[in-house]
Amino acid sequence: MNIDWFAIGAGSILLLYIVYRILLVLFNILGPYVFFQPIDLKKKAGASWAVVTGATDGIGKSYCFELARRGFNIYLVSRTESKLVQTKKDILLKHPDVEIRYATFDFTNPSPIDYQKLLSQLNAVNIGILINNVGMFFEYPEYIHQVEGGLDTLANVAIVNILPPTLVV
Ligand SMILES: NC(=O)c1ccc[n+]([C@@H]2O[C@H](COP(=O)([O-])OP(=O)(O)OC[C@H]3O[C@@H](n4cnc5c(N)ncnc54)[C@H](OP(=O)(O)O)[C@@H]3O)[C@@H](O)[C@H]2O)c1
Repeated sequence: MNIDWFAIGAGSILLLYIVYRILLVLFNILGPYVFFQPIDLKKKAGASWAVVTGATDGIGKSYCFELARRGFNIYLVSRTESKLVQTKKDILLKHPDVEIRYATFDFTNPSPIDYQKLLSQLNAVNIGILINNVGMFFEYPEYIHQVEGGLDTLANVAIVNILPPTLVV
């Protein structure tokens, strides 16, 4: 008799736990669409411009489109002017109401004077978000003393990964 009650109790707890886990999964999947309001990123940022480094390809370019969709004006920064011009055109085609500016800058350049020039360009607008997307790593995993390009590559990796988040603030 006691064993029966124990089995029923344990079974009920297990059943409740399984139902709880199923509801949790459903809540995590559907919750954002059903229960929550999307965050007003522009309001949170407190300014209408977003700066995106490495903005003309891949992840950076996707950020530009998403931020433009949310109503941000975008300041594009990367090395190649033709790609910047094309990216500006692409964004404006889809989001004609936002403003796009761009600055060419090679982030392997550590010169404080050149950084100052970049910052004065960026500071002409009211920036609420920085997407520091530009980054660099070795083409493939390698022992550090055998990395292709040697010290130049290692120095560039350090400069590109450390200076922008430190100085573009
Ligand atoms: N894709 C992945 O699977 C992955 C995974 C982990 C981390 N990441 C990181 O995410 C970031 C973006 O990756 P992604 O795959 O989207 O890169 P991507 O498609 O190669 O695009 C790189 C962007 O950065 C710009 N750029 C590259 N070197 C630059 C430099 N020295 N100075 C200024 N701009 C520069 C490029 O434009 P220009 O050539 O015109 O300068 C381009 O707009 C990188 O930091 C990468 O390390 C990517």
